[in-house]
Amino acid sequence: MPTAFAQSPIIIKFSHVVAVDTPKGKAAEFFAKRAAELTKGKVKVEVYPNSQLYKDKEEMEALQLGSVQMLAPSLSKFAPLGVKEFEAFDLPFIFDDYNDLHAVTQGPVGAKLLKKLESRGITGLAYWDNGFKVMSANKPLKSPEDYKGVKMRIQSSKVLDAQMRSVGALPQVLAFSETYQALQTGVVDGTENPPSNLYTQKMHEVQKHLSITNHGYLGYAVVVNKKFWDGLPADVRAALNKAMVESTKVANDVAFQDNQDALAKVKAAGKTTIYQPTLGERFLLKKAMFPVHKQMSSRIGEETINEIYKVTNFDPTKM
Ligand code: LMR
Repeated sequence: MPTAFAQSPIIIKFSHVVAVDTPKGKAAEFFAKRAAELTKGKVKVEVYPNSQLYKDKEEMEALQLGSVQMLAPSLSKFAPLGVKEFEAFDLPFIFDDYNDLHAVTQGPVGAKLLKKLESRGITGLAYWDNGFKVMSANKPLKSPEDYKGVKMRIQSSKVLDAQMRSVGALPQVLAFSETYQALQTGVVDGTENPPSNLYTQKMHEVQKHLSITNHGYLGYAVVVNKKFWDGLPADVRAALNKAMVESTKVANDVAFQDNQDALAKVKAAGKTTIYQPTLGERFLLKKAMFPVHKQMSSRIGEETINEIYKVTNFDPTKM
């Protein structure tokens, strides 16, 4: 047995960048609990939330080096590893709803994408939802023209960069942990988030306007260091896989609920005006952003994009 596993219990450090009280935070805690129960204490999962241990970019490196064993980075954060296909998830308006999304993440296309991580020393275990994103800023964002010249924080994704540029916004990549302060000090004017992330980071306190655009999706791949995972005793791996299946259900249920609750809480806090775009306004935004699909297709890979279109019944000729 490798020496790492001679120790008892086996420690899995699970690092993430969001608050404890988020879909990912709650699902990570649930996984830790079930992992301990199902392995009868052979495994102890230590969860480190809120970028406490590592920020976005560092956590990927830490995983590859084996300083942590488990992460759940957002899908937008895998391209810097060279797995650009993951940026397909960032394409604006590619998913109409959770049904479209789950057809990908819970089907063969999703599994194929996770497999691509193996050559990077990473094993993908599951997809966890967060949700569809809203836009926020200190000015109302109703029509595509309203984005002109607005400095928007984005995750490190070329697709998100192109998405913001498509409406004349000025995208700026920042670590998640730096976003609140950047909004507060005016380094950037606005950003995009699922409501649960916006609310738990208190971004609504420094954003006067929010538009429920649901223009794109933010979710996670739960990943482990491949060498560590492959070296686990088979019964332990099986128990952890079971814990992961259960945690995925929790993650997705919580995500759905938390994002609705977060919007209500932002409203109740009274600092942000929430705008629900009309169908017509949403369509104009879709039309403005859709060229990004074509523009990014050679980067992401046409095959991946077409596979997603197929399972979600997205017809690009209708745009
Ligand atoms: C972000 O950087 O906006 C998100 O990826 C944070 C997260 O993990 O939900």
